[in-house]
Amino acid sequence: MLVRKACIRDVEEMHQLIQMYAEQGLLLPRTVQSLCEHLQCFFVAELDGRIVGTAGLHILWKDLAEIRSLAVHPDVQGQGIGRQLVERLIEEAAALGVPQVLSLTYQTAFFAKLGFQVVQKETLPHKIWKDCIHCRKFAHCDEVAMIYYTTAPVPVHA
Ligand SMILES: CC(C)(COP(=O)(O)OP(=O)(O)OC[C@H]1O[C@@H](n2cnc3c(N)ncnc32)[C@H](O)[C@@H]1OP(=O)(O)O)[C@@H](O)C(=O)NCCC(=O)NCCS
Repeated sequence: MLVRKACIRDVEEMHQLIQMYAEQGLLLPRTVQSLCEHLQCFFVAELDGRIVGTAGLHILWKDLAEIRSLAVHPDVQGQGIGRQLVERLIEEAAALGVPQVLSLTYQTAFFAKLGFQVVQKETLPHKIWKDCIHCRKFAHCDEVAMIYYTTAPVPVHA
């Protein structure tokens, strides 16, 4: 299994994987166009020539990036692929100098295993919610906010 940067030929399989979980209400849906536009943010897990996992890192602010569209195919869950994808995103955030990685998620046990800590959503900066207005759960969001600190928290000035 290889975790690598996504490229255009992966987009259809990434879309199918994300769409499957979007239909179950576990992920926000994404269009093929949106995946193309944000392709540079994405990593994929490739196994025997097949895309079995995907994850994107969206930079929200100077000190905060968010994991988006994390998905591992049901056939290969529980084999450490989700962990490798998230660890790759954390490395990417650290390399970019962004110290905190956020996930808005229902998968609290998974993210806790990876060292994420639950934070109160109210403590997050308002600017991060701008994409949430497109979400059908906007008015009654029940996802849990969890953050991984790549370094000790430091104040970042606007
Ligand atoms: C969440 C998801 C990405 C996890 O991927 P995965 O490849 O199955 O996870 P891993 O095998 O890397 O698991 C890493 C650790 O978390 C644990 N874990 C994974 N899913 C778990 C769960 N639902 N509950 C408790 N622990 C879990 C594993 O047991 C493993 O622990 P270990 O290191 O002690 O062995 C995958 O289940 C998925 O795609 N779910 C549907 C889409 C979704 O909910 N995405 C998240 C949106 S934020």
